[in-house]
Amino acid sequence: MANLKGKVALVTGAARGIGAEIAKTLAAAGADVAVCDLKAEWCEETVKAIEACGVKGLGLGVNVAVSSEVDACVKEVIAKLGRIDIMVNNAGITKDGLLMRMSDEDWDAVLNVNLKGTFLFTRAVARPMMKNKADDGTQQGGSIINLASVVGIMGNAGQANYTASKGGVIALTKTTAKELGSRNIRCNAVAPGFIQSKMTDVLPEDVRQAYMNQIPLKRFGTVQDIAKCVLWLAGDDSAYVTGQIISVNGGMIG
Ligand code: NAI
Repeated sequence: MANLKGKVALVTGAARGIGAEIAKTLAAAGADVAVCDLKAEWCEETVKAIEACGVKGLGLGVNVAVSSEVDACVKEVIAKLGRIDIMVNNAGITKDGLLMRMSDEDWDAVLNVNLKGTFLFTRAVARPMMKNKADDGTQQGGSIINLASVVGIMGNAGQANYTASKGGVIALTKTTAKELGSRNIRCNAVAPGFIQSKMTDVLPEDVRQAYMNQIPLKRFGTVQDIAKCVLWLAGDDSAYVTGQIISVNGGMIG
């Protein structure tokens, strides 16, 4: 397993679901982990689980779509935990509806959280990551991991806003990798298929069955399936991997 001792990670939208599991997995590998969600108190359980791994935890209230809150969050994490080596842009929302009836508000809300939030945190951590140095003075950079989605690759009826936001995250991931690679900052995305979580629990049974029919491995993914891939991208085992979109979807699409 990756050894992240001495590293500091920041995970957005980590009060529950995939983000909470990613935070716990990075902590179990030895990283100090800061987590944020819309309200600091929502993060309490995740922070307890992080600290139970014997590392430092920190929970912050941040709306990822608000530039000033994002900048303040990054400053606070560095003030309290010293640095940021691993940035996981996980916070995400859906507001589904057919595009002909989709309101401007629903379009903006999803793009602002999923795509703009990812951009804001990437911009905010880029400079601090450039300054990360090992004890011998060599540039350490960092690893940025974005949560995309299978539907950002293939499209999905009823999710114009969400699919566009995740398609945007994929393009942003590739651009970030190109811009920051020379500073040893890697940027990759995980594109989950359908994962058992609060986001998919609300799907009607017939929709769940229709999705299941498209999954060769015949099960929805688990939050652990995603967290293990993020762990690999966070650590040195993936040191030569950047600009990639890793599909973790039970074989739905390549
Ligand atoms: P979830 O809805 O269980 O958790 C998302 C978290 O983000 C929540 O704690 C929520 O409070 C937080 N959040 C929402 N808006 C925020 C904001 N403006 N600022 C800060 N935090 C905010 O979702 P889940 O399933 O854990 O998804 C996590 C990520 O994985 C999302 O980016 C999602 O799009 C992506 N994903 C999920 C899939 C699934 O099947 N569950 C499939 C593909 C991608």
